[in-house]
Amino acid sequence: MSLLVANTTQNTALNTPSSPMPNLPSTKAHSLEVKSQRVALQHLNTNTMQTGLAINGMALKLDDGTVVEVTQKKIGKGAFKEIYEGTAKKVNESVRPIAISAPFIPPVPFSAFTCSLSATNPTHFIGPQIVKLPIKNGTYQYITISDLCTPKGTHYAGQKLKDALNFKHPVSKTKPFAVRPDKNYLRLLFGMLQGTLEYYKALGKAKQYTGAHGDIKALNFVLNNKTKHMGPYCTVKLIDLPENPTKPSLPWTKFYRCKGLNKHANDLYALRTMLIVALSSVRTNPMFEGDHKPVLALLNKHDQKQINSALDAIGTIIQEKSKLASIGEKEREIVKQASLLTNLITPLKKLPPYHKQVLLTLACCIGKLSLGIEKTHFTHFGVNSQLEVIKTVENVKHFLQTKLGVSGPTGSPMKPAPLSSSKRKLSKKRLVLPAQKK
Ligand SMILES: Nc1ncnc2c1ncn2[C@@H]1O[C@H](COP(=O)(O)OP(=O)(O)O)[C@@H](O)[C@H]1O
Ligand SMILES: [Mg+2]
Repeated sequence: MSLLVANTTQNTALNTPSSPMPNLPSTKAHSLEVKSQRVALQHLNTNTMQTGLAINGMALKLDDGTVVEVTQKKIGKGAFKEIYEGTAKKVNESVRPIAISAPFIPPVPFSAFTCSLSATNPTHFIGPQIVKLPIKNGTYQYITISDLCTPKGTHYAGQKLKDALNFKHPVSKTKPFAVRPDKNYLRLLFGMLQGTLEYYKALGKAKQYTGAHGDIKALNFVLNNKTKHMGPYCTVKLIDLPENPTKPSLPWTKFYRCKGLNKHANDLYALRTMLIVALSSVRTNPMFEGDHKPVLALLNKHDQKQINSALDAIGTIIQEKSKLASIGEKEREIVKQASLLTNLITPLKKLPPYHKQVLLTLACCIGKLSLGIEKTHFTHFGVNSQLEVIKTVENVKHFLQTKLGVSGPTGSPMKPAPLSSSKRKLSKKRLVLPAQKK
């Protein structure tokens, strides 16, 4: 079995089981000259695709001498591709784990924009490297290669970011941020916003003003472990970028799309749906390691009922069962319910501070995103609405940053401060929850 055979059965040229990657002469190579440095999108030569040559059924060699090997370990299966684990060995012998896929759709050249993304070395989204493989009779197959991401060792104890986001596996109370479970959790949100922001900025720079992602959801974010700087921390990365982001209709997922919204407002809507699902999950799942019950069980029946009813109201509105007519009206109703939640939660003395911090932050982010959805939808579609998304996401991200505090050498709240360096330790002041500040 080979990934390349499995996914390209529509192409008869590939139906030779003994040799799925026939050793045919390569076309002219367009190698990425500076792969390790960041290149601004506007400075890119769009011809950044590499050509590969099959060595055998499970390995190929790229223009720059890198040998790519595919294993049979399937790590993901989506609607459009299957993804396998593999390795890429450079000529200098360094090996990195990778994720490889060949889209189900028969070979169509990828757009220049898609090909240019990986060369910009994005940190919070994955723009896979595209490799063109010559096959029989002058035809080609395309495969994509990206860094292999994994939730293992990130202290979220989930198989997927979705589990961590929805408290399916309670968040660590110790690592990587010692005694800051709220921070361990909230930086997931921070990373997802960062990924969306970075991708939108890339769209803007490439003048893809009507471009969007279209399928933002927890399953389209992965965690990438980094061991640089100070022990493992993970970066959240947005994946599954659309091949043609400017297409009027992009792939989407039920509940993450609202009929009638423009594509830009819809990406915000999808981000907000993730947060609503996360907030609702606290009704059934314990939040942090060591919790035995869902946090709402600590409250009296009256408070539980009020919080549940606000959460139900939000759920009803986003499932479009609501009788509210216009998009504006719906968004304003969610803002109202989110601030009601904030008012209900703030005075509750029975809620432990870190639990409260997460609940309030989720509710506030939901409200802020709702305002952004309305604003974006009613802004002229294109460059203006795209900028509105950037403004909204930046605003929510800054809000989260105030909750997280700064840490790590670059000031990113994603990175834990190294314990060995007194300079980089979080100051006591930053560790104090806002509610406790005078
Ligand atoms: N670089 C990667 N590292 C680890 N897992 C990945 C990577 N890329 C994709 N996956 C996994 O494969 C799944 C499907 O990938 P995706 O690109 O979303 O395909 P589809 O378009 O078919 O949904 C993802 O949800 C994720 O779990
Ligand atoms: Mg997907």
